[in-house]
Amino acid sequence: AGVFTYDPGYTSTASCDSTITYIDGAKGELLHRGYPIDQLAEKSHYLEVCYLLLYDNLPTAAELEAFEATITRHTMIHEQMHNFFRGFRRDAHPMATMVGVVGAMSAFYHDSTDISDPRQREIASHRMIAKMPTIAAMAYKYSIGQPFVYPRNDLDYASNFLHMCFAVPAEQYEVDPILSRAMDRIFILHADHEQNASTSTVRLASSSGANPFACIAAGIACLWGPAHGGANQACLEMLKEIGSVDRIPEFIARAKDKDDPFRLMGFGHRVYKNFDPRAKVMKQSADEVLDLLGIENNPVLQVAKELEKQALDDPYFAEKKLFPNVDFYSGIILEAMGFPTSMFTPIFALSRTVGWISQWKEQLSDPAHKIGRPRQLYLGETAREYVDVEDR
Ligand code: CMC
Repeated sequence: AGVFTYDPGYTSTASCDSTITYIDGAKGELLHRGYPIDQLAEKSHYLEVCYLLLYDNLPTAAELEAFEATITRHTMIHEQMHNFFRGFRRDAHPMATMVGVVGAMSAFYHDSTDISDPRQREIASHRMIAKMPTIAAMAYKYSIGQPFVYPRNDLDYASNFLHMCFAVPAEQYEVDPILSRAMDRIFILHADHEQNASTSTVRLASSSGANPFACIAAGIACLWGPAHGGANQACLEMLKEIGSVDRIPEFIARAKDKDDPFRLMGFGHRVYKNFDPRAKVMKQSADEVLDLLGIENNPVLQVAKELEKQALDDPYFAEKKLFPNVDFYSGIILEAMGFPTSMFTPIFALSRTVGWISQWKEQLSDPAHKIGRPRQLYLGETAREYVDVEDR
């Protein structure tokens, strides 16, 4: 017995205090350490945002240079981990590979699993941020049967990721600066989002004292679901299933039908009820990328544009305050860049790693933190006598 607050989905429970990210859902406001997301997306770059999330303030030029050098030093993964990749089936989803490989990192980097030592926590943070693009790119290369491409430390974070995904040993590959900028924006716009499901998962896993690699692997597993990070893949698959503009009304009708579980993927948000500020920037970026690549007649993108228009004009979506979210436009950009849909959620995971790590670090440095242990409302049988099997 006991009196507990019943709050399914934790819609009104604050699980921690934090100084990292602020969201005002009604105003469509997202701030990292006080800086608005649109300013960061426009003026900053991903590694600077990583520094901001990890260390409270924007770095000075010298601090930024030192941070970038540190991250660059950790981009390779232990050579033995290549064998770990090779143990997976060729057609494994890259998210499945990532959950496994990141979980296994604690077997390779013992020296940064002692969470009681702040220096080791620091090294684990840098390792995670540096190695996630390498791991995501390797998961991709493995799934298409191409050789792994080693990181190039003369490139910036986003360009290096594109290089590891799209370069092939026998050919010259030049990263287009506009695509690299668009990739970097996708990273920035996904970097952190306060106590969402995967971040709460990381914090809950960490509350038991689990090592950082295990905690991040738990976060990746949670992110994979279609209601969360998996929405970007699900959204593009939905657009492909719709297939042509004339079928849009049929799918909008299905999304409105209470007896049909179908939802418009890439629409709606738990916190944003006016607009998703990340989606605003992402939409602009999508236009730039499509323009650059000269893509106008792609049927998927035509369906996306028309679906957005028709849904926004529909009273059902207006009344329920359902707007395109970040995953709606990021999928369009990634599709145009040539990523298969299976890579969309891994790219979200690598971008969110800094958010998970910053929240993990904040939690561990809070002297009041304790193991997370929700209670329940028990609705089952009260005590009853055991009956022998022959008497049932
Ligand atoms: N299409 C059609 N109806 C919807 C949708 C949708 N995408 N989203 C919510 N609704 C309806 C829902 O049926 C419910 O109606 P009613 O009040 O009549 O029962 C109402 O809107 C409220 O929905 P909810 O499920 O109670 O809201 P929630 O805050 O629990 O869920 C959500 C938020 C994002 C899970 C949900 O909007 C959804 O499933 N969207 C599609 C998946 C998606 O795009 N997820 C990405 C979220 S943003 C990035 C991230 O977190 O990774």
